[in-house]
Amino acid sequence: MTPLPLVDPTIRIDSHLDAAHERGLADDVLDGLTRPFKELPPKHFYDERGCELFDAICELPEYYPTRTERGLLERHADALAAVGGGAAELVELGSGTAAKTRVLLSAMERRGTLRRYVPFDVAESVVRDSAEALVREYGGLRVHGVVGDFERHLGEIPSPREGEPRIVALLGGTIGNFPPGSRRRLLREIGELLGPDDRLLLGTGLVTEVEALEAAYDDSAGVTADFNRNVLAVVNRELEADFPLDGFAHVAFFDRRHEWIEMRLRALRPLSVLVGALDLRVEVAAGEEIRTEISAKFTRARVADDFEAAGLRLDEWFEDDDGRHALSLAARVRD
Ligand code: SAH
Ligand code: TRP
Repeated sequence: MTPLPLVDPTIRIDSHLDAAHERGLADDVLDGLTRPFKELPPKHFYDERGCELFDAICELPEYYPTRTERGLLERHADALAAVGGGAAELVELGSGTAAKTRVLLSAMERRGTLRRYVPFDVAESVVRDSAEALVREYGGLRVHGVVGDFERHLGEIPSPREGEPRIVALLGGTIGNFPPGSRRRLLREIGELLGPDDRLLLGTGLVTEVEALEAAYDDSAGVTADFNRNVLAVVNRELEADFPLDGFAHVAFFDRRHEWIEMRLRALRPLSVLVGALDLRVEVAAGEEIRTEISAKFTRARVADDFEAAGLRLDEWFEDDDGRHALSLAARVRD
């Protein structure tokens, strides 16, 4: 753990990603690109360029999830800030630029209970930048940022304070980026962060019309395509690889059986790629696809079942008028 030097006493940021093993990229590339069906896990999208591209995705006309979730947060902000009799702390997993977070923080501030914000993200720059912006915007707010991988470092989140109810938020449909087994494991681990008065706030995309779903992950301006290919730029830079970015097409489709969006990179020609840092040669046939992400879509029943399997209980459910996105509040079931 490296506490990073900062002048502002209201900000503390702990980083748990050491440069050598940053995000386990090398392990994931070796494991994922030597499989019969090649795959790269989505957390490696988010270097600085990836975070910028993701922000641009959130502004796209086709990408409705961000706007819809923001609308739900606005509509239910006061009910959410009432968690535990008045939420004092917001822990946000995969916080990104914390754009929508301000809706919640403002509601907590209006209620007079806001004390601390704990942003947690694998991308260090967004944690640092959002921390600095938020302490300026909210007088008296303390920010304790955690830079880490929420599949490995949830234990590094600061302990809750006595009498300070907290919301642990996982927004933006990020939970859908995990396949069902890891999803339930992650939910269980998140549940362990909850005391009796605390709640998990989960944002999930819902199963809706296929055209709208597919357009959201394959926009006409090609921003999502650039975002998808950016993972190759990350591998090139960090592991001395030579993936030609123009050798891959962006593919996104709704898999009706699994009810998830699947994103892939399809080789436009046969490629022989060297991953220098791993001494690994990867042969990719023309037309072969590398899976880079799934984004599962939910129904209320699927969310409730996942909660139950993870030792959580669905307490409240808010969905938009078009049934495209939902926010849930869940409590930990005590055993
Ligand atoms: N919450 C924001 C951002 C969602 S994008 C929103 O709703 O718009 C997903 C965010 O999760 C990115 O900022 C990414 O860096 C982060 N992330 C993805 N996988 C992660 C992991 N394994 N550990 C920590 N952060 C992760
Ligand atoms: N959590 C977001 C989602 O599933 C992530 C995302 C949106 C995404 N668009 C993307 C990831 C495009 C990769 C590529 O909606």
